[in-house]
Amino acid sequence: MTQVLCVAGARPNFMKIAPVMAALAETGIAAQLLHTGQHYDAAMSDSFFADLGIPPPDHHLEVGSGSHAVQTAEVMKRFEPVLESVQPQAVLVVGDVNSTIACALVAAKRGVRVIHVEAGLRSYDRSMPEEINRVLTDQISDLLFTTEKSALANLQREGIDPARVEFVGNVMIDTLHRNLERAVPAERTLGTALPQYAVLTLHRPSNVDHRETLGALLDVVGEINRRLPVVMPLHPRTRGNIEKFGFTAKLDGLHVLPPVGYLEMLGLMRDARLVLTDSGGIQEETTALGVPCLTLRDNTERPITLSEGTNTLVGPDPAAIRAAFEEVMAGSGKAGRIPEYWDGRAAMRIAHTLKGWLPMQKGTHALSAARVVG
Ligand code: UD1
Repeated sequence: MTQVLCVAGARPNFMKIAPVMAALAETGIAAQLLHTGQHYDAAMSDSFFADLGIPPPDHHLEVGSGSHAVQTAEVMKRFEPVLESVQPQAVLVVGDVNSTIACALVAAKRGVRVIHVEAGLRSYDRSMPEEINRVLTDQISDLLFTTEKSALANLQREGIDPARVEFVGNVMIDTLHRNLERAVPAERTLGTALPQYAVLTLHRPSNVDHRETLGALLDVVGEINRRLPVVMPLHPRTRGNIEKFGFTAKLDGLHVLPPVGYLEMLGLMRDARLVLTDSGGIQEETTALGVPCLTLRDNTERPITLSEGTNTLVGPDPAAIRAAFEEVMAGSGKAGRIPEYWDGRAAMRIAHTLKGWLPMQKGTHALSAARVVG
């Protein structure tokens, strides 16, 4: 009998699900893995399974891209029959992508327990699709595992019973610990040795979907590149928009790469002088690595990376980016310290809790009861 059906769908899910699957296996909890197919390119998906030793998914929904409504609905439609045939005691979702809320919602409505890993993070910016996914997933989760203590206060503010919340630390940092020694040196990924460089990642709709914002960002990146070479692994959304807006020439002189694998990205970040990003996960990874990070957003849902880590919120404003860049170049980038429980053992804490929690869940097969008749 499958106890836990784990869900992963998009790139940032894979490094979170890897240590969870390993810890469940180690603790003797019967788990299956489902891939929604939200991300499907080899570079956005398969390479992570290979690099991180994630077992091949037991189920693949192959939903692909679409508008938020289409993508979320497709995951829901295709997930329901799998859930019904597997009949797990609980569905475990990670992070904040569309696959996360889609599968949590199907499970909750069919009376199956929902476990959310990386619960309680809030940017308080509802224009971010991920913020909506976070708030809603947490509302319908039965057990919520958090990465930082601020998450508990966020959840309590939304009326969630603290008894359902456990601070376990950061599973993504488990993966970082496990793989740091295997990180591919930057020189190999770049095909050349750069004595110093910055890494840039951009993919948030707020930064890359609007012509003016993206154009201004690429212009200031071009300026930085004249002082410190900029390495830019290009997300498919960003590449598509650069082409659509006719901005390809703005990439001249940058070290543009296709999306890189986990071990390549880890090596690029570890060896960088500076990272500029609008990703959530990279704010945490740079904190764990002790590398200065300038976040090109107005807010973050991961405030511990600001208060304890190496992260500085800069926003998309070119003048602010220029000023923060100068500070790092002058040697005043943040040193930071490693947050509590970002110690490589978060997934084992989750597995130990589940070992006690799963047998206590009554009515675990509420599937038929939840079926709407008529
Ligand atoms: C999604 C997540 C975001 C996460 C990001 C990491 C949501 C709401 N967003 O955003 O939280 O930070 O993943 O990458 O779930 N595409 C490909 N190949 C792929 C996948 C996508 O070419 O394998 C292209 C498609 O043109 C697609 C676009 O990228 O339309 C965007 O993909 P999508 O999954 O809709 O959102 P992301 O921007 O990747």
